[in-house]
Amino acid sequence: MALWDGRFEGGPAAEMQAFSESLGVDLQMFEQDIDGSLAHVRMLSEVGLVSEDERQVIADGLEAVRGELRSGAYAPDIALEDVHMAVESRLIELVGAVGGKLHTARSRNDQVATDMRLWLKLHMGHLDAAFAALLTSLLDRVESDGRTLIPGFTHLQRGQPIWLGHHLLAYAWMIHRDRQRLADALKRVDQSPLGACAMAGTPHPIDRDRSCELLGFASPIENAMDAVASRDHVHEVAAVCAIAATHLSRMAEELVLWSTPEFGVVRMGEGYSTGSSIMPQKRNPDAAELVRGKTGRVYGGLQALLTMVKGLPLAYNRDLQEDREQLFDAVHTTAACARISAGMWRTLTVNDAYTARLEGDFSLATELADYLAAKGLPFRDAHHVSGSLVKWCEDRGGNFKLLTLDVLREHSPLFDEDVFGWLIPTAAVERRTSRGGTAWSEVTRQVALLRETLADA
Ligand code: ARG
Repeated sequence: MALWDGRFEGGPAAEMQAFSESLGVDLQMFEQDIDGSLAHVRMLSEVGLVSEDERQVIADGLEAVRGELRSGAYAPDIALEDVHMAVESRLIELVGAVGGKLHTARSRNDQVATDMRLWLKLHMGHLDAAFAALLTSLLDRVESDGRTLIPGFTHLQRGQPIWLGHHLLAYAWMIHRDRQRLADALKRVDQSPLGACAMAGTPHPIDRDRSCELLGFASPIENAMDAVASRDHVHEVAAVCAIAATHLSRMAEELVLWSTPEFGVVRMGEGYSTGSSIMPQKRNPDAAELVRGKTGRVYGGLQALLTMVKGLPLAYNRDLQEDREQLFDAVHTTAACARISAGMWRTLTVNDAYTARLEGDFSLATELADYLAAKGLPFRDAHHVSGSLVKWCEDRGGNFKLLTLDVLREHSPLFDEDVFGWLIPTAAVERRTSRGGTAWSEVTRQVALLRETLADA
C-alpha cells in the first residue's frame, strides 16, 4: 500500500499503477534523494523537530537503504510509485515508526525538485567535462594539423583558402560558448527548493538556509510555490543541450563530408568507423552519423519540456513527473555525443588533399581583387576585373595558371610582376592577419586564449 493511502479504501488499478510510476527513471537519482533526506533530518534535529537520537537512527537507516540500492539487494516495487516513497518506505521497514518523522516539513514536491537540482549539478559537471575534452581535442588537432591548406566554403562552394586550424577554431569557440552557457544555467540550477513543502511552506520552525547550506546549494529559492512549480532551469539546461547538439551535429556532418574521397581531408580512426556487411571496401563514419542523428532526440527533449509546462496552473501538477525522462536523456545524449566527437578528433588523420588542388584555383579570385584594391582601384571595379579574369580562364577551360602578365594587363594596367606572389594559396592565407583572420599568427593567438579557459576549470 502507498504511504498516502489513509483516505483510500482500495488500491489503484493495476494499469494506473504502471501508468503513473516514475521509479524506473527516478532510480537514477536515489543518491540525491538520500542526500536530500540526510540534510533535511539534520536540519530537523538542529531546530529541535527530531531528537539527536532519532536523527542518528534515521541517518543510519538512510545509509542502509543507500547500500541496499547500490548493491541491488533492494529492488523497490513499482507500487511505491517513485524514488521518494521507495526510500522512505524501506527506511520505515528498517528503523520502524521513527522513520516517519523524516517527512516532517517537506513534501514530495520539494523533494523531487531538490533531487533533480542535485542530479543536475552533478551531471552538468560531467557534461562540462565532455565539452572540455572535445575542446581540448580540437585544440590539439589545430596544433598538430592546423597548418593544412583547405578551401573555406560558402554555399559549400570553394570560397577562399584557409588553414584547417582556422576552420576548427570556429567550432572550438562554439564549444567554448556551450561551456559558458552551461555555467550560466548552473547559477539558476544551484538553488534549494527544500522546505518549500507542497507549495505553502510549513508552520514548523525549519531553517531552510541550513538545509540549503548542507546540500551545497548557493541559496534557497525565495518563494515556496516557485520552488515546486518552476522548471525554467530545466528548460535552460535542455536548451544548452539543444544548442550544443547543433554544434556537434554540424561538426559531425563535416566529418562525414570530409572523410569522403571527394573531399579527402580526413580519414576517420578505425575505432570510430564501421564496415559494410556487403561492400568490403567500406569504412563508414557511423560515429559522426550517430552524433548527427541523435540531435533529433535532444531537440525533442527541449520541445517536450517546454510544452509540458506551458499550460500548467500553479503549483505542482503530476505532468511534471514527465520531465526527468526528457531531461536526463538530453543531458546523457549530449555528453555522449561530445565524448564521441572528442574521440573522433583525437583518432582521425588529416590528409593534405587540397594544397595541390588550390594552385591556380578560382578561390584566389579575391586575391586579385584585393591586389588591385591595394593599388588604389575601388574594390567594386577590382572585383569586376577579377571576375572577368575568371571568365577568361574558364572560357579556355583552365584556371589562373593560364594568366600571364600580358593577359592580366589587358584587363587592368595596374597589374605588375608582383601579382604572382598574390596567387599562391599559402600567401593568401598568411596575408589575412586581421583579427580573427586565417593567418597562422591569429590561429595560435586564439588557441592560447582557449587554452586559458581550459586552465581556469
Ligand atoms: N513522482 C512525483 C514526480 O516525479 C513526485 C512528486 C509527487 N507529488 C504529488 N503531489 N503527487 O513528480
